[in-house]
Amino acid sequence: MDNIYRPYLMTISDMTDEAPGVRTFKLNFSNEDEGRNFKFQTGQFGLYSVFGAGESTFCIASSPTREDYIECTFREAGRVTKALRELNIGDTLGFRGPYGNVFPIDKWEGKNLVFIAGGIALPPLRSVIWNCLDLRDKYKDVTIIYGAKTTEDLVYKHELKEWDARDDVNLVTTVDPGGETPEWNGKVGFVPTVVEEAAPESKDTIAIVCGPPIMIKFTLPALEKLGFKQDKVYTTLENRMKCGLGKCGRCNIGCTYVCKEGPVFTAEEVSKMPDEF
Ligand SMILES: Cc1cc2nc3c(=O)[nH]c(=O)nc-3n(C[C@H](O)[C@H](O)[C@H](O)COP(=O)(O)OP(=O)(O)OC[C@H]3O[C@@H](n4cnc5c(N)ncnc54)[C@H](O)[C@@H]3O)c2cc1C
Ligand code: FES
Repeated sequence: MDNIYRPYLMTISDMTDEAPGVRTFKLNFSNEDEGRNFKFQTGQFGLYSVFGAGESTFCIASSPTREDYIECTFREAGRVTKALRELNIGDTLGFRGPYGNVFPIDKWEGKNLVFIAGGIALPPLRSVIWNCLDLRDKYKDVTIIYGAKTTEDLVYKHELKEWDARDDVNLVTTVDPGGETPEWNGKVGFVPTVVEEAAPESKDTIAIVCGPPIMIKFTLPALEKLGFKQDKVYTTLENRMKCGLGKCGRCNIGCTYVCKEGPVFTAEEVSKMPDEF
């Protein structure tokens, strides 16, 4: 019988330091056949393991349109992420997945898209942003609103420049008051305020929001004021996970298993979850 917890072996083929404590790994399948057969969809996540240290959950931060490799971006938080930072190009780690549901990008065809992210929550959005940009003709206006505490904390700085230079993307970046430098020419202010100022059109528009709970808490009402209906707003939840497969009961909110039924939910679905969440 197959062991469902057996990870793929992945080789780190590249790494990028994005921001203090935040690193991206490009991972190739050590077994090329496994790489050729591997498929995932945007929004899904995996369990990444350092042998002898344990497993951590991260989204797949690359787009499924870029085949043969996956990327993950992680912030050093504790035991496993510290061990991950000690790995180098050429080292091997484990990956189980893909797990979870997906962003329904087929349903969004013909619509405007507004991506809103805060801090380290850009990785799950980066996957779906690139997926939609690689299929650019299928969508109307694309707006990306991204904020971090300071200019240094912005992740994917090289890709922000690339998006900014495109005529078919409207990028708005912001940092918290006090987080700017003299050279900064983005906005200064918290993400929910910047969303209200940018006032994206809500008609025929899907909003995708990822960020720390406090950002989500104030961004959802801002979107509602702009006329966004809850079923047109998507987010991802990051409850602590163990198995990723709906078996251990670690990630549930009421009777919802975030690892199986999520991590992608509409704001409407989140609003029906138990109050303590
Ligand atoms: C679906 C999903 C996708 C995720 N995607 C990413 C990603 O792309 N990049 C990224 O950096 N992180 C992501 N996370 C969060 C990440 O899983 C944790 O930060 C990581 O597992 C910490 O592992 P660790 O062993 O280093 O920390 P631990 O030693 O386990 O914990 C260190 C500290 O972090 C806290 N912590 C650990 N996990 C979580 C969590 N899920 N929520 C809140 N606090 C937590 C612990 O309580 C503790 O205080 C994701 C989580 C989920 C569930
Ligand atoms: S992580 Fe085990 S049930 Fe969801």
